[in-house]
Amino acid sequence: MSDLPTSTNNAVTRFLAAAGGVVLTLLIGPPLAAAELKTTDFDSIRLYTLRNDQGMEIGVTNYGAIITSIKVPDRDGKFDDVALGYDSVEKYINAVDKPYFGAVVGRYGNRIAGGKFELDGQTYTLAINNSPNHLHGGVIGFDKVVWDAKPIKLDRGEALQLSYTAKDMEEGYPGKLDITVTYTLTDDNAVIVDYRAQTDKATPVNLTQHTYFNLKGEGRGTILDHELMINAGRYTPVDATLIPTGELADVQGTPFDFRKSKTIGRDIGQDNEQLAYGLGYDHNFVLDRDGKGMQLAARVYEPISGRVLEISTTEPGIQLYSGNFLDGRLTGKSDQPYVHRGGFCLETQHYPDSPNRPEFPSTILRPGKTYETTTKFKFGVKKP
Ligand code: GLA
Repeated sequence: MSDLPTSTNNAVTRFLAAAGGVVLTLLIGPPLAAAELKTTDFDSIRLYTLRNDQGMEIGVTNYGAIITSIKVPDRDGKFDDVALGYDSVEKYINAVDKPYFGAVVGRYGNRIAGGKFELDGQTYTLAINNSPNHLHGGVIGFDKVVWDAKPIKLDRGEALQLSYTAKDMEEGYPGKLDITVTYTLTDDNAVIVDYRAQTDKATPVNLTQHTYFNLKGEGRGTILDHELMINAGRYTPVDATLIPTGELADVQGTPFDFRKSKTIGRDIGQDNEQLAYGLGYDHNFVLDRDGKGMQLAARVYEPISGRVLEISTTEPGIQLYSGNFLDGRLTGKSDQPYVHRGGFCLETQHYPDSPNRPEFPSTILRPGKTYETTTKFKFGVKKP
């Protein structure tokens, strides 16, 4: 593994060269950005590469803890990059509609209704950055800050440990929160993501990973032909603003039944109110779990390349987002436009709007306790 500030590799050079331009971008951005981020922060932006003995490689930057690339073999041993993203940090910052490519999102992944919640008798007000709701931690969420990065060697593989301390009341959330996210690349082609956090005041925490996958290779058309299994008999239906209604609805007989593998595209065009609200799939599934620990949440198979992705997690939910807001305006690493539904996300998480839903599993972290979740993305191949 290497910290690559002096590499002559083109992608890396472009990535670092772009970092110089970032400050200007932020100075003309939202006022908070200019106030909160200093020039020196940008001097510390780096791109790290983790490699394993199978030749698999992932790129990670400490800007937003973003996974910038995932290079894995197809069934013939040919490597492609299956993660949507960019080759310069400037592009991550300037991207229209902020798609959160590859980032760690938080302090609260997904939506909080009306940007308000009550905790221990006090009401907290958050930014409405996805009108009329709060989304993915606010205006400058964890996807838009510079993390400290430390390459480490673990028994199970090369790893990068990323840490960030969010201030008390940063983006409106109570409590100073110390977060560590560790990415490990194992020799059996898995990326393990370990999230840890501690706070000095009670606060909601819901961290997730927002990589968009296209198992054919990024920029190679839509993901509608990918076959998906989600281990969930229920999901959380939403209102027109994508806030859960509180119901845990049975997937049986609906387009949300992925218990038996089917293509993402098979039912996405059905005349269905939930699909209309999400403009496709943008919903949280309630995982069928048996106790605690790591359990299989989803499996995706792409028939042309033969690539398989299996996601296991300690989390109770997973958000399927079918790239509905991509519309071809963003162009990725291979200069191909990211077309409508050109990538899918499977974001392991607690359910959206949990701080306002006492009946959902709690997302409140209290002082003295450790937030601890793990998600594993395991890549493989299958014969036709
Ligand atoms: C999540 C949300 C979507 C969208 C994407 C980013 O998946 O649920 O509605 O905001 O992030 O574009």
